[in-house]
Amino acid sequence: MNMNPISSLPLPPGNLGLPFIRQKKVFQKNYQDYIKEIYEKYGPIYKTRVLGKKLIYFQGYEAVKFVLTNENKYFTSPIIFKNYKRIFGQTDISWLAGKEHRDRQKLLAKALKNKVLDNYIDTIHNLSQSYFSKWMKSNYVDLYFEINNYTLDLVLKLLLGIDSASESEIGNYLKDMSSGLNTIPLALPWTKLGHALKSRDKLFNQFEQIIVERQKESDFGSDVLGILLTVQEQINSKLTVRQIAEQMVNLLSLGRKELSSALSSFLILTSEHLDVLKFLQIEQEKLDRSEPVSLAKLKKMVYLEQVIKEVLRLAPPVSGGLREVLQDCSFQGFRIPKGWNVAYQINSVLQDPEIYEQPERFNPERFNPINAEDKKKPLCYIPFGGGARECIGKEFAYLVIKIFISTLLDNCSWKFKENQDLTINKFPVARPANKIEVCFTNG
Ligand code: HEM
Repeated sequence: MNMNPISSLPLPPGNLGLPFIRQKKVFQKNYQDYIKEIYEKYGPIYKTRVLGKKLIYFQGYEAVKFVLTNENKYFTSPIIFKNYKRIFGQTDISWLAGKEHRDRQKLLAKALKNKVLDNYIDTIHNLSQSYFSKWMKSNYVDLYFEINNYTLDLVLKLLLGIDSASESEIGNYLKDMSSGLNTIPLALPWTKLGHALKSRDKLFNQFEQIIVERQKESDFGSDVLGILLTVQEQINSKLTVRQIAEQMVNLLSLGRKELSSALSSFLILTSEHLDVLKFLQIEQEKLDRSEPVSLAKLKKMVYLEQVIKEVLRLAPPVSGGLREVLQDCSFQGFRIPKGWNVAYQINSVLQDPEIYEQPERFNPERFNPINAEDKKKPLCYIPFGGGARECIGKEFAYLVIKIFISTLLDNCSWKFKENQDLTINKFPVARPANKIEVCFTNG
């Protein structure tokens, strides 16, 4: 008899409970504590039910590596939650698989990687300076609120050439759309989903108009949209206006909050480590101030890069990723059934004491060329995920963070209001738990 050995294996430990009851318990707790607790109690894999779907958490180096290295074999992009499909569409890179996914990656890489990043330097530098001038005119500013406006302005300028987005309705449209994701799937004018769809229509109309106008120009321009349109013509790719708009909304929603998270965590964590700030200043002083910002100059900011890496390790903006199981497989003697969802956890790897010495300590020196803790094992440094679905905006993100922080160090001093709670909440995107006020001054 032809017995499939996988089908005879037990399911991972855990509790499926009744649909929705389990989920309620999860969200009653601090999510990060819950994740840590199940890891300590049950080990690297644990089954549960979230939003009515069967889900297995994968934690720790080996389990996470198993997910990241088996993309397209055992795992693929997750089943889209119904509301998500209705609000954001389903043609952006996050939901594509196999060849379609690889083709989209290649297309986006042309606009987000390598030499093309040169195009974006002046915009990032100028916008950073104009925000710092504004902040220096105030007494204390609300750090996360201001950084969130900065990233909205920046990302929309770089993606679609939109100016001063934070003064428009776009931020509110995005908020409405996010609020519609985990609610009852009833689209009436007064329900959250109804509001989300109305805002979705307004945002997509605005983006589609910009795309149509741009397609009429002889020179498509040098922002992300311009590069995509140019490359599309060259490689004869045929995305519709709607598909381009969906991809732009996807880049905006995957990039902007993560950048806000990284920048605010950077300022919070360094404010508690003045020695690190001092070394950062010394590195900037050694560079030629009169030399304009360039990719070559940014490459020289080696210590800054180490500090960014440490911030992203201790406060990873993204807590993990979701996948759907493509075919039955097994991990450490447990069956992982086809059709279930899987959630891999980034923090569990970045906090692993077998990889990172005293993982709870803020220590940028762990990334110097001698210690190189991020190179200890393949896929052990994963704030940007890893494998076939690694973040396509990684270089772009480093570019923004490096320019923002080096320009800040060159132009300002800053001081946090005393006795503030600087806790960073880690889920769903790392961000300050409370309002944090900071005073920026000249020099
Ligand atoms: C510090 C900033 C950022 C962090 C920490 C970050 C983190 C991540 C992570 C962990 C993933 C993988 C999720 C998974 O495995 O399912 C991801 C995917 C992605 N990120 Fe980022 N990201 C950042 C900034 C950006 C920016 C600025 C952009 C675009 C402008 C971007 C675009 C994307 C896209 C398109 C994907 C999906 C890739 C795919 O499915 O193939 N990210 N990001």
